[in-house]
Amino acid sequence: MRETRLPQDEQPGGFDVTRPHPARMYDYYLRGKDNYAAGREAAEEVMRRAPQAAPSARENRAWMLRVVRYLVREEGIRQFLDIGTGIPTEPNLHQAAQEVAAECRVVYVDNDPVVLAHARALMASTDEGRTEYIDADLREPEDILARSELQVALDFSRPIALVMSAVGHFVDDLARLREIVTTLSKPLAPGSCLALSHATADFDPATAGAAAAVYGQLRATASMTPRTHAEVLSLFDGCALVEPGVVPVNEWRPYIPAAVGSAESAWIYGGVGEIDGGTGA
Ligand SMILES: C[S@@+](CC[C@H](N)C(=O)[O-])C[C@H]1O[C@@H](n2cnc3c(N)ncnc32)[C@H](O)[C@@H]1O
Repeated sequence: MRETRLPQDEQPGGFDVTRPHPARMYDYYLRGKDNYAAGREAAEEVMRRAPQAAPSARENRAWMLRVVRYLVREEGIRQFLDIGTGIPTEPNLHQAAQEVAAECRVVYVDNDPVVLAHARALMASTDEGRTEYIDADLREPEDILARSELQVALDFSRPIALVMSAVGHFVDDLARLREIVTTLSKPLAPGSCLALSHATADFDPATAGAAAAVYGQLRATASMTPRTHAEVLSLFDGCALVEPGVVPVNEWRPYIPAAVGSAESAWIYGGVGEIDGGTGA
């Protein structure tokens, strides 16, 4: 008897594959394999309008890993709360952190069911460390903070790095995004840090704006709002920024000095701030 199979994009276990999801589009920019036709087509359209999109995503991922190593080595951080984790891409945040200090603990948060399906891969930790995954929405920060998995995995009397890498641009309203960062920062102990990166249209507003519009035009599950340098900087209010401040991610403490101004310059700003004594203001 002949086997009747649906095309791959129609049978991936209950995920809505008819709409592009930011996590799967990002996976495509990173040359990953966990993406479906709708996401691939949307990502291709973004890349057609702005060829810088995929290199920017790859620069952002490299920035996140450099930042994590910096936080463990230079700031003495051993605990991470990573909001908007993305589909696992090796090395993942916990691997970068635990490579430097095996006891590092990481709580991952995302609202994409595909990331949830891969959560077990994110849970692999060193014996001394720990990883947890929380399926939750960034726009409900109080819910994230109240989750027992978070409270059990992390010690809030000790410093924690709040990582928001390439996720803030999926919140439309800047004032709301600032509130979210403040809410998540507030319970963090002195010595805690905020590591945040965010898409920008500053370098070519027409091109970047047209690319960002694809998320809305192709009905992605979240729209994309690029922000100016001043707006991204405002997310660090109350923090002492570490050098070099908020800069294109490829210029943030590169291991190899970046070719500033090249066609591959990242259209994503990133920075690290030391949160002021847990006030989170
Ligand atoms: C561009 S990816 C970034 C992945 C990873 N942080 C990195 O920088 O490599 C953005 C991630 O944020 C997640 N995300 C978007 N909106 C979210 C929300 N409201 N709550 C939680 N996660 C969200 C997406 O599902 C996706 O996995």
